[in-house]
Amino acid sequence: MLKAVLFDLDGVITDTAKFHFLAWRELGKELGVTVDEAFNEELKGVSRMDSLERILAFGGLADKYSLAEKEALCTKKNDHYLELIQEMTPADILPGILPLLEELRAAGLKTIITSASKNAPGILELLQVKDYFDGIVDPASVAAGKPAPDIFLAGAALADAEPAECIGVEDAASGVEAIKAANITAVAIGDAEVLAQADRVLPDTSALSLAVLRDTWEKAIA
Ligand code: G6P
Ligand code: MG
Repeated sequence: MLKAVLFDLDGVITDTAKFHFLAWRELGKELGVTVDEAFNEELKGVSRMDSLERILAFGGLADKYSLAEKEALCTKKNDHYLELIQEMTPADILPGILPLLEELRAAGLKTIITSASKNAPGILELLQVKDYFDGIVDPASVAAGKPAPDIFLAGAALADAEPAECIGVEDAASGVEAIKAANITAVAIGDAEVLAQADRVLPDTSALSLAVLRDTWEKAIA
């Protein structure tokens, strides 16, 4: 039986993905590294420090900064990101998400946030949707970030479910890879080519419903 839905946050619940992109692009400019939309795909779902490391490696700057300097760069990016998101309201919840959360609650399924973002609790507050979730996995509590399966395995455990009883919803290739590595069924939102590893790809969140999640899960575990 399908027992739990494990939700990524950025790009699934709300479109913070664009703010992460703007903040990394700005920091990239200061470092002399061009962060364009294509390269940004490789940052989606990836933790703050891992994203910085990827940007530095992309710009040939891998060994240029000390850990303290890299931490300061991460703080700078995050301060800019926090400025960008502070105007967010419940109107920024992506289409189809609230009705889905209502459906899941009515059907008694568990809902867990499995996001790499340390800002996730604050964003759920801004969107006023915190109460729809049974738990938030603290990304600092898992050993390895996406594409490793850890955060989704922790999400299943938090829901008191086996991986086979869960479905994960993601917008990032690294996230889909993590879900599949956890032996969990994956629904992806976005470009079918980028997200080809998922069990089903939907063009946007408005296509999400309990029926679609159940159908995907039943076909995947058959
Ligand atoms: C999500 C986003 C990434 C972001 C990461 C860390 O996975 O998709 O773009 O880098 O969270 O977010 P944070 O808010 O902790 O910097
Ligand atoms: Mg995401």
